[in-house]
Amino acid sequence: MIFLLAPLAGFTDAPFRKMCADGGADGTYTEMVSAAALAHGNVPTRLMLEKMEGEGPLACQIFGASECDVAAAAREIEKVADRFVELNLNAGCPMQKIVDSGCGGRLVEDPPKVYSLLKAMKENTSLPVTLKTRLGMHRATPAIMELLDAAESAGAAKIIVHARSVGQKHGGPLNLELLAEVAARARIPVIGNGSVKTADDVAAMAAAGVAGVMIGRAALAEPTVFARLSGRPCGKIPGPAETAVRHLDLVLDFYACLAARFPEAHVPDADGIASIKMHTHLFRYFSGMPGAVKLRSRLSSIRTLAEVRDAMAPFAAATGDAARTAQPAAPQN
Ligand SMILES: Cc1cc2nc3c(=O)[nH]c(=O)nc-3n(C[C@H](O)[C@H](O)[C@H](O)COP(=O)(O)O)c2cc1C
Repeated sequence: MIFLLAPLAGFTDAPFRKMCADGGADGTYTEMVSAAALAHGNVPTRLMLEKMEGEGPLACQIFGASECDVAAAAREIEKVADRFVELNLNAGCPMQKIVDSGCGGRLVEDPPKVYSLLKAMKENTSLPVTLKTRLGMHRATPAIMELLDAAESAGAAKIIVHARSVGQKHGGPLNLELLAEVAARARIPVIGNGSVKTADDVAAMAAAGVAGVMIGRAALAEPTVFARLSGRPCGKIPGPAETAVRHLDLVLDFYACLAARFPEAHVPDADGIASIKMHTHLFRYFSGMPGAVKLRSRLSSIRTLAEVRDAMAPFAAATGDAARTAQPAAPQN
């Protein structure tokens, strides 16, 4: 059984992926990258292909609705193919603006389109091409067998199945019976996805016959969830304050490097990047601890690195990690 970090737009940037790789993930995925934006040379989108040293196996996920765009994106990614182990197509995102543009979840209604998008990607990359999708548009209209056939006929190396419909978004019951039918029929590895948080959830996925599980939201509060659920050691499991401090250090380090290498990209400075990136992550690490709710509301108004460190300090003190928060920020080049 392999344990993968799911692509999570807004979260799975290089620093967070590294946290999860260190926390036992066998592989990680970029946030979904717009094929059209990549094809048109958009600089911030291009930066989404950057990777940190020591991140481990990384897959690049793109979304798109046109063969032309995904082919051009695949050619762009090919230029840095040594960073990646896989090129993945998103055919499951339920966000309205993505669906309305014919991408993501819209594709579950059109398996022939999925076939031709995967084909176009495959013809323009040396990387294995894979599909991440859902069971169908609605619970009553499963399309997963046709999507599996499309993926296999196009030469996909693997299929990741979120065992919900697009209409269910991120809640509601999983359909593990249907997932088991997919796994039984597939000639390529099937990775199961959806609300995996506990050993029982992993066991239920294993019983469905999948080759691995992909974990998204549970990793946000616990980047070492992969080690916990796989039972494989990954060194000392850090406490919440240590995790938060480590994350902040990685964020500062990575974005300082990006700013130095891509001055034209206008990467925010340490104050900007610490407040932008940590405001979505920090409160999760301290969830359940006294003061965590207050921290969550405070984070939205935080604007500087000093304020981020200040907000973390009581939690660090409570868990004995106070000394580490005194570390100076990584220098901005
Ligand atoms: C905030 C958020 C962002 C997401 N971004 C992506 C994405 O960029 N690409 C994608 O294929 N799925 C995306 N997903 C779906 C997840 O990859 C995953 O399929 C879903 O969250 C179910 O897994 P989980 O229950 O382990 O979180 C996103 C989900 C969330 C909650």
